[in-house]
Amino acid sequence: MSADPECFLNGAFIPLAEARVSVMDRGFLFGDSVYEVIPAYGGRLFRLEQHLRRLEQSLAAIRMATPLGRAAWESALTRLVAPFSGRDEVGVYLQVTRGPAGKRDHAIPEAIRPTVFAMVNPIDPPDPELAERGIAAVTLDDIRWGLCNIKATTLLANVLLRQQAKDRQAMEAILVRDGMVTEGAASNLFAVRAGLLVTPPKGPFLLPGITRDLVLELAAEDGIPHAEAPVTAAELESAEEIWLTSSTNEIMPVTRLDGEPVASGLPGPLWRHMAGRYQAYKAQLRAGA
Ligand code: PDD
Repeated sequence: MSADPECFLNGAFIPLAEARVSVMDRGFLFGDSVYEVIPAYGGRLFRLEQHLRRLEQSLAAIRMATPLGRAAWESALTRLVAPFSGRDEVGVYLQVTRGPAGKRDHAIPEAIRPTVFAMVNPIDPPDPELAERGIAAVTLDDIRWGLCNIKATTLLANVLLRQQAKDRQAMEAILVRDGMVTEGAASNLFAVRAGLLVTPPKGPFLLPGITRDLVLELAAEDGIPHAEAPVTAAELESAEEIWLTSSTNEIMPVTRLDGEPVASGLPGPLWRHMAGRYQAYKAQLRAGA
């Protein structure tokens, strides 16, 4: 990464170190804003259309108009990642806030201009050794709100949950609401039960992950039995495999749950298959297919 990469702020391309946002911005004062994280492999944006569609859904859910059309987003983001086409993996972080207001007031002001920001972050590709061993996760009460389908920057609960996992030497918190598993603090969850690949259904209690959708598509292509169905915390304890999916960590096998091994304690065969398919999908994208 160059020491001072370019970012996009309200229509202008400027050095990241020079980007400034008002302290009266409602994104700062209230967390009144939404975001996306979009990987790019060899300078090509991963599932851009799906990410932009989810952004539009998040904006609509918080009563905001889309500040840029899809073509404008595409041209801005393509320009941002272009300098990194030689680098294998980067991530675009984009955020749209309600914008700066004259005074701090919870109710949404009538006339307000959104703040539109995007930057490129290096992504460290998931450590292959870690994937071979699998990661540890702990189950925690899902203390978040009832609109987890919105990709909101209001992430304090996720931050505290992830930290609780870290304090217990685990990489992710798996969240449980009324006995049902929802997702990870920053990932979606899959489990294998009696050979069936299951993931909790979309709804207000989880983020509709782009990686999750791709895993379901690949499972369908390969004839792997799969379902979007509720998963109880008790079922997780006897799962044959558990995976966590996200744009940044791809498909991670969980091999220890709450200090106990998951099945044999090693990543399972279905994970190995799906991880291979995912890498092949990335390679195709990189090659421009
Ligand atoms: N987070 N669920 C939550 C709560 C998340 O924060 C994320 C991703 C996911 C996976 O979604 P996707 O496959 O579209 O990345 C599920 C991003 C990476 C983040 O906050 O950095």
